[in-house]
Amino acid sequence: MTDLLDRLRTAVGTDHVLTDAGDVSAYVVDWTGVHEGRALAVVRPGTTSEVAAVVAACHEAGVAIVPQGGNTGLVGGGVPDASGEQVVLSLGRMRTIREVDPVAGTITVDAGVVLADVQAVAEQAGRLFPMSLGSEGSCTIGGNLATNAGGTAVLRYGMTRELVLGLEVVLPDGRVWDGLRGLRKDNTGYDLTQLFVGSEGTLGVITGAVLRLFPATPRHATAWVAVPSVEAAVSLLGLAQQHAGAHLSTFEIANRQALDLVLAHLPGASDPLAEPTDWYVLVELAAAENDGGLDDALEAILSAAVEADLASDAAIAGSPAQRSSLWALREGISEAQKVEGATLKHDVTLPITRLAEWAAAMGPQLDAVLPGIRPVTYGHVGDGNLHYNLSAAVGADDDLRAAAADLSTAIYDSVAAADGSISAEHGLGRTKAAAGASYKSAVEVDLMRAVKRALDPDGLMNPGVLLPPT
Ligand code: FAD
Ligand code: MLT
Ligand code: ZN
Repeated sequence: MTDLLDRLRTAVGTDHVLTDAGDVSAYVVDWTGVHEGRALAVVRPGTTSEVAAVVAACHEAGVAIVPQGGNTGLVGGGVPDASGEQVVLSLGRMRTIREVDPVAGTITVDAGVVLADVQAVAEQAGRLFPMSLGSEGSCTIGGNLATNAGGTAVLRYGMTRELVLGLEVVLPDGRVWDGLRGLRKDNTGYDLTQLFVGSEGTLGVITGAVLRLFPATPRHATAWVAVPSVEAAVSLLGLAQQHAGAHLSTFEIANRQALDLVLAHLPGASDPLAEPTDWYVLVELAAAENDGGLDDALEAILSAAVEADLASDAAIAGSPAQRSSLWALREGISEAQKVEGATLKHDVTLPITRLAEWAAAMGPQLDAVLPGIRPVTYGHVGDGNLHYNLSAAVGADDDLRAAAADLSTAIYDSVAAADGSISAEHGLGRTKAAAGASYKSAVEVDLMRAVKRALDPDGLMNPGVLLPPT
């Protein structure tokens, strides 16, 4: 392995090959703290040709690579296994915005650019890059593409795969595929760009991307709405779509348990409503500068909702600061639950018409497995996507860890029975690779393995992630 380390140092410079335990530690533990591995080295290339040299060297040495962006993934896909034999390839130094073209509506970036930086550059150009996640200050475009990230703007703009036009990828043998095309129309064969989106680092290393920009939407109308049930929230979604049409940009749900954790753990958070209730929805409408009428549309939605008993109260943001504090109640939930203690995450989608019935049935079923369990339920209800994240009763984190497999199986079985998906947006990673395969048909798993073999015959790209070992 000394030869490989020497080659890597030659490729990227000695300072960018980390092997000391202290230097490596931040790269081998995931955000959740559940996955902690060991690495042969962490390598930090600064250009696409350096990435290609690193991948070629590892390929020749038969050493596996774990691509890593901001390390905010929630399924352990960006950290190495426990063997100490894998190389972590961090894209963190590749942060160049290569080109912005407001008229074509494209931005071309290195894969290591942080999502919030893409949003900011788009805004400076008078455009919008709509993807928005709680982790946007740390996650990278490469990670967003590799996980096909979702977030709070999917309702209007779609998942990451709908926001990308072209990619540059270093293949598992070190060759570079230059697919950095910004064309809206290109029917010349298999869609290789889309093949790499959502591949979680198992088919190659994404080094650059052409992303779509949209007209800016600087006007907002935002409300935090108390609703009696998930069923009411889904009906309210229908009302909001009817009144606001394409202006509806966000429709997020949170249960009282989630809000209580934010109020307990997020400095400065306060409940905007006088009376507690079981469920809340964050609704936002967004429009271009000259596109008025948002406040009226929001008022109309809320009045109709109260009249139909779909809402009992609402706080409307009267200023950008109030808007930020309503958003913080939603975006702070993951962090607050982590501060509270152990979290067993589930990221599920169901057909939206079955969501309410599913959520109502799940709680009692899980309480029978682990009495006192607290479902912290929130997420992108407008997309049919709930984060059904479990906390134990206070002081019972070890019981939650012990019951984790039974709890997750109960959830996955009932999601599968309701024609849903066990991973709406976070991917399969290490956490759900085995479960992912077990809920797919044999034909689908065979096709996935055939794609993997075709691109990565030696199985050196992120082994153990997305597909379980054979
Ligand atoms: P990493 O965590 O570094 O890696 C994730 C996966 O992508 C790994 O499999 C890794 O190998 C692979 N990868 C990374 N970079 C590359 C590359 N350049 N080429 C090939 N493979 C690569 N996710 C959502 O979808 N929606 C949300 O609303 C959301 N909210 C979140 C909120 C919080 C507070 C946190 C901590 C996370 C949240 N996430 C959410 C999860 C996470 O932020 C996303 O999955 C994000 O896309 C990961 O980006 P990253 O750069 O951190 O990737
Ligand atoms: C979110 O939407 O806040 C995250 O995707 C949920 C999570 O951290 O589980
Ligand atoms: Zn989410």
